[in-house]
Amino acid sequence: MMREFLTSGLVHGLLGEAQGSVWMPPEASTFANEMDPLFYFVLYLSVFFFVLLIGATVWFTLKYRERSPDQKTSPVKHNGRLEFLWSAIPTVLLLVIFVWGQKPFVNLSSAPVDALNLRVTGQKWNWTIDYPGLNKSCGAASVADPETGIEHMETDFFVPANRPVKLTIGAADVLHSFYIPAFRLKRDAVPGRYTGYWFNANEPGVYELFCAEYCGQQHSEMRGRVHVLSEMEWRAFLKSSRCPALDPDADDYGEKLYQANCKTCHSIDGSRQTGPSFKGIWGHTAEITGGTSVTVDDNYVRESLRDPSAKIVESFAPGMPVFSSSQLDDRAVNALIEFIKSQGDSGHIE
Ligand code: CUA
Repeated sequence: MMREFLTSGLVHGLLGEAQGSVWMPPEASTFANEMDPLFYFVLYLSVFFFVLLIGATVWFTLKYRERSPDQKTSPVKHNGRLEFLWSAIPTVLLLVIFVWGQKPFVNLSSAPVDALNLRVTGQKWNWTIDYPGLNKSCGAASVADPETGIEHMETDFFVPANRPVKLTIGAADVLHSFYIPAFRLKRDAVPGRYTGYWFNANEPGVYELFCAEYCGQQHSEMRGRVHVLSEMEWRAFLKSSRCPALDPDADDYGEKLYQANCKTCHSIDGSRQTGPSFKGIWGHTAEITGGTSVTVDDNYVRESLRDPSAKIVESFAPGMPVFSSSQLDDRAVNALIEFIKSQGDSGHIE
């Protein structure tokens, strides 16, 4: 039985087959077959060295045990070759793991430009998934456990199959971790900061979604289902009322916020006003007073709202008021970020 487990895991891992093993659920994203061989390599390498080292320890303990009270330890001398090898072999193995893991890691961090952009927010104790471009938001709904009848909140998360999906992940209260085992993806959701990754789910189906960071009493209930939809199902989902509108009042929530809060100082046509224009700033590197620079991204926009004097764009004077979370809540900040994003990234900062 044990041998079967090991072989199935090893074979699946090395060949990158889509079935799961005792160690891993079935592969359901394009990353999974990049990650799994490395996982199995590290696993079996660890098993090999565990057996080797613990076996040798037990064997030496028995072989060189004290047999009589007056027995003395024989003098121990250096063995240069042995000492070189036990440093060199692990170094080479660690470098192999590093180089092997580097490629998928870099890939994971840079989403394709045509990816569908979604926002994930973790809060005690459920997830909210916003679809800014589609003006939809999937919150958690109450679900009863079929056996116990006890109700808890669960999130249904819908994504199209075979299409890159980029997640921008945040947290409203404490640290959470957004985890989809079948995609081999796990990312911390950190309050006051955005993290992200992307995936391409290539197997339509329903997969489990977890919170992988202890976040309080109902941490274990903070779960949901990821529905990977075929082209036809995805089109039906877009028309359905399964997820309500992101902002019930308007499709242009971000623009309304801009008109009300930012317009007097930040233009969208590239003209210079009190503050930098929003035209084409997304993704650009801005020179900061004091000689540093910053990339205009989710985190920078958020910081600029909450703490405007932290990074002043060169040649502009400080003077922007603070927007606290009671004036602009997280959802408003996200909407403004989406608005700034929609002003393009082709120009430069005025
Ligand atoms: Cu959220 Cu654990």
